[in-house]
Amino acid sequence: MGGSDGAGADERSDTTRPYERDGEVTRLLFVCLGNICRSPTAEGVMRALVEQAGLQDSIELDSAGTGAWHVGNPPDARAVAAAGERGFELHGRARQIRREDFDDFDLMVAMDGENLRELRRLAPGRDEREKVRLLREFDPASGVGSEAPPSRPIASRVAGELDVPDPYYGAAGGFEEVLDLVHAACVGLLEQIRSGQAP
Ligand code: 4NP
Repeated sequence: MGGSDGAGADERSDTTRPYERDGEVTRLLFVCLGNICRSPTAEGVMRALVEQAGLQDSIELDSAGTGAWHVGNPPDARAVAAAGERGFELHGRARQIRREDFDDFDLMVAMDGENLRELRRLAPGRDEREKVRLLREFDPASGVGSEAPPSRPIASRVAGELDVPDPYYGAAGGFEEVLDLVHAACVGLLEQIRSGQAP
């Protein structure tokens, strides 16, 4: 992608999808509690999907935690191993969410209802609050899809049903479940971005 298409981009046929036509960069921040299990997994899976689609110049990704306990740490070894089994690489060091994230990112994608509520509490204003969404809203199988306007209080409406469960203190299978849920939702999220339905 990139901006070299210039004015000519607007003259392309209508079959060009809106996202690929306008050359904009979309910035996504995945957010969980510790930034060592779920959000680095979502970042790693989404990065692979974005690269597969050749959209790495158009979609920028990062992740953060609402908590500070693991700041500076690499992704949890169990998450790295589970992702590696499926061919995904997890990178980066944990960091805590910061005020500027609400300006720097177009979409802040929470892993569970608790992360969603915390991000909405921290959001400095209404516009920023509306950037905060639940990851599994984007899973076509979740039944929420794009019908829900961003301002709708999805987490309370579904009462945790759309959470990516926290695997940190759970059994090993929890990391497999995280990958299943995250992958399905990231496929849907990428599709919505490409079709112009998100952010
Ligand atoms: P995450 O998992 O939010 O998916 O990174 C957790 C990691 C650490 C803790 C909780 C959840 N913790 O309590 O230290």
